[in-house]
Amino acid sequence: MSQLNLPSTPGKLKPDKFSPYSHRLRPHRITLFSTLLLALVLLFFYISYSPSSSSSPPRRFLWGGPGWESQVRSSAKVRSGGRFTVLVTGAAGFVGTHVSLALKRRGDGVIGLDNFNDYYDAKLKRDRRSQLDKSGIFVIEGDINDRELLEKLFDVVPFTHVMHLAAQAGVRYAMKNPSSYVHSNIAGFVNLLEVCKSANPQPAIVWASSSSVYGLNTKVPFSEKDRTDRPASLYAATKKAGEEIAHTYNHIYGLSITGLRFFTVYGPWGRPDMAYFFFTKHILSGKQIEIFEGPNHRSVARDFTYIDDIVKGCLGALDTAKKSTGSGGKKRGPAQLRVFNLGNTSPVPVTRLVSILEKLLKVKANKKLMPMPSNGDVMFTHANISSAQRELGYKPTTDLETGLKKFVHWYLKYYSGSKKRSSW
Ligand SMILES: NC(=O)c1ccc[n+]([C@@H]2O[C@H](COP(=O)([O-])OP(=O)(O)OC[C@H]3O[C@@H](n4cnc5c(N)ncnc54)[C@H](O)[C@@H]3O)[C@@H](O)[C@H]2O)c1
Repeated sequence: MSQLNLPSTPGKLKPDKFSPYSHRLRPHRITLFSTLLLALVLLFFYISYSPSSSSSPPRRFLWGGPGWESQVRSSAKVRSGGRFTVLVTGAAGFVGTHVSLALKRRGDGVIGLDNFNDYYDAKLKRDRRSQLDKSGIFVIEGDINDRELLEKLFDVVPFTHVMHLAAQAGVRYAMKNPSSYVHSNIAGFVNLLEVCKSANPQPAIVWASSSSVYGLNTKVPFSEKDRTDRPASLYAATKKAGEEIAHTYNHIYGLSITGLRFFTVYGPWGRPDMAYFFFTKHILSGKQIEIFEGPNHRSVARDFTYIDDIVKGCLGALDTAKKSTGSGGKKRGPAQLRVFNLGNTSPVPVTRLVSILEKLLKVKANKKLMPMPSNGDVMFTHANISSAQRELGYKPTTDLETGLKKFVHWYLKYYSGSKKRSSW
C-alpha cells in the first residue's frame, strides 16, 4: 500500500509559537496550518476508502474491447471431453483455483472472476492466477458487484453453470471489517443472482456456503436437517443469509441453486489466514502459536477436509445440477434447490493438527494454550455427509496426515525463496 508523503516535521516552525490559542497567526502559518489540516483530512479519507482495502466500494477495473472478448471466448471454449461453460467467481482464491483447474482438465470451458482484494497476501492470488493462465484459463479482474461486467460476460458467453466461490472468508476478521462481508457475501451474491436470473439461458448455480451456519449447535454430526439459526459470527450470518437469498431466487425466478457447506478446507495453495497455514509459518520461524481450548481444557476440533475431496464434491454438484427453469427473468416451473455438507466426517483436535505439523516439519512448536475468545469461532465441527454421498457421489478419501504432508511439501517449495516457483 502506498504511503502519503508527509514531512516528519513541520518545517522550521517552533512548536511554542504554533499555538492553537494564538490570535495573531501570520499568513504563512495559516497556510501551513490549513495544509496540515487538509493532509489530515486526506489521510482520513485515504485510510477509510483505500482502494486496496477489502471494505472499499467496488474498484473500477479495466475490461472490454475486442481483444478482451476473444480471450473470454477462447477460455470459455468447451474442449474434447467437456460439457459445460462455467463462470468461476473467486477463481484466484484457494478453492476457486483448484476447481477451475479440475474443470479445465476435463475439457469444460472456464472463465474466472476475482477482485484480488488484499484480505490476505494478494501475491499468492496472482501466483495462483499464473497457474490458471498456464492452463488457458482467463481470470478477469473484477468485482461480483459490477453489474455491467457480469452482464457483458453473459452477453459474450452463454454460461451453462456458475460456480460461485467469491466471498469474504474468515470468521475473526468480521469484527474488524464487517462491511466487507456485506459487500461480497450479500450484496455481491444478490447482484450475481440478479444477472443470472435475467440471463437467457439461465445458468445453474453451485455456490459455497459454510459449515459455520451450524453455529452454536451441539448435536453432532451436523446434518443438513439441523437448525441453522444461531450463527456465532457475522461471516456465518452472511452465509446463512445467502442460503435464504438462494431460496428466494429459486422460488421466484426458477434458478437451479446448490449450496455447499464446506468444512475447514486445507491443502496446497491454501489460505494464509487459516490455522494450519499460519501454524506452519510460525513453527518454522520459532514464533509462539496460540492454541485455543474450551472450558475445562476441552479441545477445539475441526472436520478438516482436503482440497481434492472438496473439488470432487464441487464437480459432483455441477454434474448433478438440473437446468434452471426460467428465462428472461420469468419462472417457467419449479427448479432444483439443494444444500449439502462437504466434510471429512472425522473431526481432529487442533492439538493433533499441531503434532502432525511438528512431525512433518521436524520442528518442535512453541505452544501456548489459551481459553478460546468469543470472537466467532465454534468449539467443533463434524459433518454428516450421507446426502452428498448419495446424491453427488461424494466420498472423501484423504486423512489429515496425508493431506498435511502434501500441504507442507507445497509450502516449503513455494516459500523456499528460490526463484523457481512451485507448480501443479
Ligand atoms: N476454505 C475453507 O475452509 C472454507 C470453508 C467454508 C466455506 N468456504 C467458502 O468457500 C469459498 C472459497 O473459499 P476460499 O477458502 O477459496 O477463500 P479465498 O479467500 O481464498 O477465495 C475467495 C476469493 O474471492 C475473491 N473475492 C472476494 N470478494 C470478491 C468480490 N466482491 N468480487 C470478486 N471476487 C471476490 C477473493 O479475492 C478471493 O480470491 C468462499 O465462499 C468461502 O466462504 C471456505
